Amino acid sequence: MERVVGNMHQKVSLTGIKPTGMPHLGNYLGAIKPALELAEKYRARYFIADYHALNTIRDPKMLRDLTYEVAAAWLACGLNPDDVLFYRQSDVPETFELSTIIMAFTSKGLMNRAHAYKAVVQANEENGKDTDYGVNMGLYTYPVLMAADILLFDADVVPVGKDQKQHLEMTADIAQTINSNYGKTLLTIPEAIFHSTGQVVQGLDGRKMSKSYNNTIPLFVPEKKFRKIINSIVTNSQAVEESKDPEVCNVFSLYRLFASEEQQETLAARYREGGMGWGEAKGALFDVMNAQISPMRDVYNSLMADKSQLDAILKTGGEKARDIAAQKIAFLRKEIGLG
Ligand code: ADP
Ligand code: TRP
Repeated sequence: MERVVGNMHQKVSLTGIKPTGMPHLGNYLGAIKPALELAEKYRARYFIADYHALNTIRDPKMLRDLTYEVAAAWLACGLNPDDVLFYRQSDVPETFELSTIIMAFTSKGLMNRAHAYKAVVQANEENGKDTDYGVNMGLYTYPVLMAADILLFDADVVPVGKDQKQHLEMTADIAQTINSNYGKTLLTIPEAIFHSTGQVVQGLDGRKMSKSYNNTIPLFVPEKKFRKIINSIVTNSQAVEESKDPEVCNVFSLYRLFASEEQQETLAARYREGGMGWGEAKGALFDVMNAQISPMRDVYNSLMADKSQLDAILKTGGEKARDIAAQKIAFLRKEIGLG
């Protein structure tokens, strides 16, 4: 839904972040940074999808800690809560009311086709288990809850990774069904914006950096640990004196993402001329990465040291989000004949 801000029409960008672990460098360059750039052009609503995380995180302390970690990480990466509406999904119970409304318009068949659910069913079949083994209703209705997150705030665009494509299609499908039933646009049809796949950040072993491969460089860990992780990047067994090819090196591919052109040329020359050990290359990588990350890490550490700031930011965001959500729910209740 377009809104007039000054004399500019500003569309809504919304995304949810599951608090399931400390973001890594791939998440930062591939998702967090692009979403924060979008926030400059759009009216942004970014939230912590803690109810979605409940499907997998069942330890209360862990869920709370991860929520803080992920919130602090986004703020440390530059999310400005004065510009971006930043909230916890669980602080907006209207989400669950909308979820119930839209369930009446969502065919079971649509949910049966969801990739994440289908993957569990398929694994069960392959392992000779009951089809529904390990499937809870949270997993089964995951796409409905996600649609409610999006439709509640009239999102125009939803920045996500390609893996979320189907969820966005389902959201649009559900919204269209509702709009066509009532013969008017009650819900804004959202469009996915996929983070560019142009720059896939490589992990410690040279494959795509991913939690599933256990090869990540977490964004915020103490400096000493950060150095240790960088030192664990897999390299070949070439001797110090040998000439090395920067184009086929895990260390250099990460260096490229953080170093200036000039720094890249200098290090590439060191590679080619020989006499450079992997320790030196990793040291150079640590220096450029740490220069960019350490100011953010300081912000992260100070937010984590005193949670009251985080509590206050999330509380204010939650209240603002609830105001918007309550209006939308009141509007929908009236339109559909409830109350
Ligand atoms: P993981 O693969 O570690 O589980 P997620 O799927 O949670 O990561 O990633 C969230 C988003 O972060 C992705 O949709 C994508 O946009 C971005 N992302 C993840 N890994 C990378 C990577 N190695 N390079 C670039 N972007 C990435
Ligand atoms: N399903 C998303 C993920 O796994 C997280 C999410 C929940 C989300 N609700 C959302 C993303 C709404 C965008 C919009 O990454």
